[in-house]
Amino acid sequence: MSTGRVIGTDTVEDARRRSRLIVEVMPGDIVTALARESAERFGLKLVDGPVEMPAPVRTDGATSMRRTLYRRAPKWQAPARRPRKARQLGKLALIGAGGVGGNIAHLAAMADMAQEIALIDIAPGLAAATALDLNHASGITGAAGRCLGGETLDLVAGAEVVVVTAGRARGPGMTRADLIDVNARVIRAAGEAIRSEAPDAVVIVVTNPLDEMTVKMLRATGFPRERVLGMAGTLDSSRFRHALARAAGVDPADVDAITLGSHGEEMAPIPSRATIKGRPLEVFLSTDQIETCVQDAITGGGQVVALKKMGSATIAPAHASIELIDHMRDARSGPVPVSVMLEGEYGIEGVVLGVPAHLGARGFVKVEELRLTDSETAGLHAAAEAIRARLGL
Ligand code: 2OP
Repeated sequence: MSTGRVIGTDTVEDARRRSRLIVEVMPGDIVTALARESAERFGLKLVDGPVEMPAPVRTDGATSMRRTLYRRAPKWQAPARRPRKARQLGKLALIGAGGVGGNIAHLAAMADMAQEIALIDIAPGLAAATALDLNHASGITGAAGRCLGGETLDLVAGAEVVVVTAGRARGPGMTRADLIDVNARVIRAAGEAIRSEAPDAVVIVVTNPLDEMTVKMLRATGFPRERVLGMAGTLDSSRFRHALARAAGVDPADVDAITLGSHGEEMAPIPSRATIKGRPLEVFLSTDQIETCVQDAITGGGQVVALKKMGSATIAPAHASIELIDHMRDARSGPVPVSVMLEGEYGIEGVVLGVPAHLGARGFVKVEELRLTDSETAGLHAAAEAIRARLGL
């Protein structure tokens, strides 16, 4: 007769609640069929025991003391990790001081991201007013960077990074692609000014339709592909993570997920690489729920436009632009989704598309080629073809 335990669904549930990755099965234990099924569903492994624990790591006295204090006194807080040493930019220029540009300036000023932040907008007084407003806040915030604003593009002079948000925004019922002709003229003027006044700058394009405008900016500046980036993937990924977190009932910080492809109808959220609390989406969500989250990410920008009636989202796009600058100035590390001109990566050439890439002070350093499912790869290729067709390439 067996002397072991019966491992049922309650044992598996218990392991899941404790965020365990395995359930130890000792000789003589009986595992019910239902327990096997639910372990598989939750991504838990049934492992033959006894499981060997790793040998304790030898540490010095000070480390042991810190650990002991932490265990014994619940109110004691471990010292916060020292923040990464981020580089401060000399000058950040923002062409377009509307909702997105204004919010970028605000976030950049609060983070002391640059010694000087220049805002430029053709709307009379808007950029100067926003710059003055931000400078007025510095008496409270203590932000040391100087903000200045004006209406002419020569204010980009000497900028290390130029973010271009200028152009028309979508109205309800419009697609981003409807803006191609009108915004291409804005991008051409901005690109020519950047080429002559800030020839070493890295340009981040935010103006829609994003992928097409990034191609236009490459042409207008004549810059190498490393120095012309499009901001879309960080925004769409944030929307995807938000949707997944809501559906799974967890914090957005528990979700890791990216969105690639175009910033339009052919956006390609990547469920196969996404995790919640470090585990595959399927552990928490049904296939239908995942598909709803994918659609939520794709339509996220349009949902804001529909509610606002006039204009599109401003806050999330500003944060998403700042995320790219933070990667460039070493405040964040690892690959980040960004639109770049592809030269064979993912089997695609001659078109701008959102892909994961490592960024540095001089723009993008390397595209990271992830292993994707066949349908995700097909999604990327379809996006590339759609952009090519819209540009008549
Ligand atoms: C959005 O998706 C502005 O295209 C931008 O909200």
